[in-house]
Amino acid sequence: MIYLDNAATSYYKPEAVAQAVADAIRTMGNGSRGTHPAALQSSRIVFETRELLSELFHGDGLEQVAFTANSTESLNIAIKGVIGPGDRVVTTVLEHNSVLRPLYELERAGTELVIVGCREETGSLDYDALKQAIIPGTKAVVITHASNLTGNVTDIRQVGTWCREAGALLIVDASQTAGVFPINMKEDGIDILCFTGHKGLMGPQGTGGLCVRSGLTVRPLLTGGSGIMTYSKSHPQVMPTALEAGTLNGHGIAGLRASLLYIKEKGIDGLRRREQALMRRFYAQVKEIPGIRIYGDFSQEDRAAIVALNIGDEDSGQVSDYLAEEYGIYTRSGGHCAPLMHQALGTVDQGAVRFSFSHFNTEEEADRAAQALREY
Ligand SMILES: Cc1ncc(COP(=O)(O)O)c(C=O)c1O
Repeated sequence: MIYLDNAATSYYKPEAVAQAVADAIRTMGNGSRGTHPAALQSSRIVFETRELLSELFHGDGLEQVAFTANSTESLNIAIKGVIGPGDRVVTTVLEHNSVLRPLYELERAGTELVIVGCREETGSLDYDALKQAIIPGTKAVVITHASNLTGNVTDIRQVGTWCREAGALLIVDASQTAGVFPINMKEDGIDILCFTGHKGLMGPQGTGGLCVRSGLTVRPLLTGGSGIMTYSKSHPQVMPTALEAGTLNGHGIAGLRASLLYIKEKGIDGLRRREQALMRRFYAQVKEIPGIRIYGDFSQEDRAAIVALNIGDEDSGQVSDYLAEEYGIYTRSGGHCAPLMHQALGTVDQGAVRFSFSHFNTEEEADRAAQALREY
């Protein structure tokens, strides 16, 4: 099997992640819900994981990191927690449905939604239009750090500057970049960073979270058990409890802690360069194959390790199934939950076949995938 669907979820995880989850299942009590050793063991792991995440994203400290089950939950909390009816919000056609659907919901309730387009040839964000859209009076800009379809990376620092000038909040969907690209909430001017644990962070599925700039209040989506202030009728407002209700996925968080330690030890830049080199190696071969159309801006040096393509008019699902059945090569076809990006690229009906690389992949795997396309 050659797994090239890492943008959906990273399949190969550091061995320490599996070990940490197994250890946690055998040893963890309920963190923040008691003071016996098993509960404290859980609290310690959760505490350390918050600390590692805040350090990785240059956030405002561990208390500003709230855990969720995935990016979708984080984005729902962030978007619905700071934007309301009557507000003006700017987003882009690069976005995943995890951003678009909560925003459409708000739009139906009276939020003004502005969606910025891209260049049709490459799917690159139209920065001129974005700059013009971020005007004073804009409540928030919600934007992805990288397109999960093309792999194009957004210049978040530039967007952050425009947001600060206009007094708008910046909410970033880092689903495709967390754990792979450097993110500095302070220097990039990010108010809320939403991440998922199971992609580039290489943690277990069911982990994710959001880092909130200190001083910013986010309305909670859920209220309930918190382990503190039991006799209050209101959910505690203190972070991170304010955005966490119910027992955390402690076992998953233990795995995430192990992957964060792995990333710290290996170095994020080395891991990214390795997967980018594999992506470039694959791209260099497939772009020479007659009839193949590739989407995305490959002049962008620091881009996500994704190559999305089509072969002639072949249905992307058919190509993807063929690669899986005949060659054991696993890719992702169809719409990738990115409807506006497909509309912009003119691939709504055909979809696209997405190859996405991890540093655990090999040169031989990249070459075999290119060869399979040559033979199609
Ligand atoms: C850009 C982007 N945003 C959001 C998501 C949603 O992530 P999750 O499924 O972990 O909630 C994904 C993953 O598919 C993604 O690629």
